[in-house]
Amino acid sequence: MGKSAKIVILTGAGISAESGLGTFRDEGGLWAQHRIEDVATPKGFARNPDLVHSFYNARRAQAARARPNAAHQALAGLQRDHPGEVVIITQNVDTLHEAGGAAEVLHMHGTLAGALCADCGHRWPAPLQMHTGTPCPACTAPAGRPDVVWFGEIPHFMEAIYAHLAQADIFAAIGTSGEVYPAVTFVDEAHLAGAHTVELNLEPSSAASRFAERRFGPASETVSAWVAEQLG
Ligand code: APR
Repeated sequence: MGKSAKIVILTGAGISAESGLGTFRDEGGLWAQHRIEDVATPKGFARNPDLVHSFYNARRAQAARARPNAAHQALAGLQRDHPGEVVIITQNVDTLHEAGGAAEVLHMHGTLAGALCADCGHRWPAPLQMHTGTPCPACTAPAGRPDVVWFGEIPHFMEAIYAHLAQADIFAAIGTSGEVYPAVTFVDEAHLAGAHTVELNLEPSSAASRFAERRFGPASETVSAWVAEQLG
């Protein structure tokens, strides 16, 4: 691949697993502990905002204690040292990519660090603990919610993401089970653009067969080795 190859990366919860943050669909994962419809949908929030705030307060507290691992740091190094453009798209709502030194990370599902007013759409930095009735600093409505994308809501940056995928020379999916739309279609978009596609995951994801190359193992090992190869 040419030295100035454009590399587009999609990450999921698996890249933050070794930093101590829970994944969703692994044994005992977050979706084994909570029902998605209760804590990650607009209806769930309307039905029981206290439950939803306590779910995200717990994740915010856990994320505050987490440190980036070798995989986050390797990707930041790739962004820094690779002559071509390196775009990091993440489904994760933690900010460990940024803590590891990455820049311009596209958080398609939002971040735990953000708060959103369900009434006026105002965004502000989320306090560590949010509660039902948190007033919006802009319109004062008691409608503060986590600024994360719930099931049934539209992910962020989709236009930019599809434009990046159309220009990708290399597409890597890291630590994602390939179960959720639209992220699971990114490998197909990249393939259509002629990109080399690689999956770096603990075990084959549901989308594994759609990748030209697959490497299995913990992200802290597989991503570091893969980045070292890209940097030649
Ligand atoms: N290294 C690499 N991969 C790992 C590791 C690890 N240490 N540990 C787990 N994995 C892999 C698992 O094998 C699994 O394929 O990470 C993947 C995690 O999959 P999910 O738990 O489904 O997380 P993700 O793919 O990010 O979920 C996508 O679904 O629930 C929604 O919005 C939520 O962003 C999330 C989206």
